[in-house]
Amino acid sequence: MIKNALVTGGCGFIGSYLVDTLIEKGITVTVVDNLSAGTTTYLQKHIKTHSAAFYQYDIRDLDNLLSIPTNFDFIFHLAAQPDVKISVSNPQIDFEINTVGTFNILELMRKKDIPNLVFAGSSGTIYGEPDLLPTPENYPLKPISNYGAAKAAAEMYCSSFASLYDLNIVCLRLGNIFGPRSTHGVMYDFFHKLNKDPSKLEILGDGKQTKSYLYISDTIEAFTHLSNNINKGYDNYNVSSDEAISVVDIANEIVNVMNLKDVTFTFNVSGGWKGGWKGDVPNTSMNIKKVRQSGWSPKISIKRGIKHYINWLSNS
Ligand SMILES: NC(=O)c1ccc[n+]([C@@H]2O[C@H](COP(=O)([O-])OP(=O)(O)OC[C@H]3O[C@@H](n4cnc5c(N)ncnc54)[C@H](O)[C@@H]3O)[C@@H](O)[C@H]2O)c1
Repeated sequence: MIKNALVTGGCGFIGSYLVDTLIEKGITVTVVDNLSAGTTTYLQKHIKTHSAAFYQYDIRDLDNLLSIPTNFDFIFHLAAQPDVKISVSNPQIDFEINTVGTFNILELMRKKDIPNLVFAGSSGTIYGEPDLLPTPENYPLKPISNYGAAKAAAEMYCSSFASLYDLNIVCLRLGNIFGPRSTHGVMYDFFHKLNKDPSKLEILGDGKQTKSYLYISDTIEAFTHLSNNINKGYDNYNVSSDEAISVVDIANEIVNVMNLKDVTFTFNVSGGWKGGWKGDVPNTSMNIKKVRQSGWSPKISIKRGIKHYINWLSNS
């Protein structure tokens, strides 16, 4: 039973939903977020009702993390630099936030005797361009972006810390997560481009890139399910849907949901990269047998999820 949780990145897209859910379950929540990308909009109601505390701290500053006076029994670590493109143009920042930042969270656990960690890892980037699709968890890690490398390195520290200091750590290797409150990603970009000019849509890459996606409500259920079933040591799970969809099919779905006609698609392949941009893995498909066997499975189809998300974007 989780009683007192720290959520890093709790002002972001996934973190804000996780905070809502933990509080609904009667768990006391403390959020750490430096607000570089997140917003306190969704947290305000919880602060007003004293269900959550908020520290505008950076995970790169371990002293600040250690100064928080609460005794946590769980950490959900989601704070990150989540953009592959930024990790290519600024590898140092990505390493400091995603690898060193995660190392600091592990140090916080070691120094403050916090036994449990749920870590938001990545499945789409750590395997690189695998020969085996759908890719299972035991496939070799061979990232082709610095973001993927930083997330993989962070996971390796999760493994060593769990073994050395007797911690319980589960890593959710997330696919592409989408849904309301998300302010980045291909669906967000397409919606805004089409809103601006409904006659045409520029697609980065050849549009054939095909990836695994997962709707936000299924993602949050995976977080709660796997945290309730956390075991001694370190473990990891691909958390995505079985479905994969191409970028062109996403574009077609969004055009349909927006009720647009005669939209011309143009393909920008000027970067000479197989994916949409440098470091982008063109094809991902996750083997989710392990997480299914644990008792979680996705419920919302990609097409249904796109409809919910685009309707939310249209009304917000
Ligand atoms: N969204 C996806 O498709 C996806 C896929 C795979 C993995 N993930 C991982 O899931 C987690 C959450 O992703 P998201 O989509 O909600 O991203 P997000 O950008 O919406 O949320 C990240 C939050 O972390 C905060 N943050 C960033 N750097 C920080 C720092 N140095 N110190 C403290 N706070 C900091 C931001 O302000 C933001 O609120 C991340 O770890 C991300 O790498 C996301």
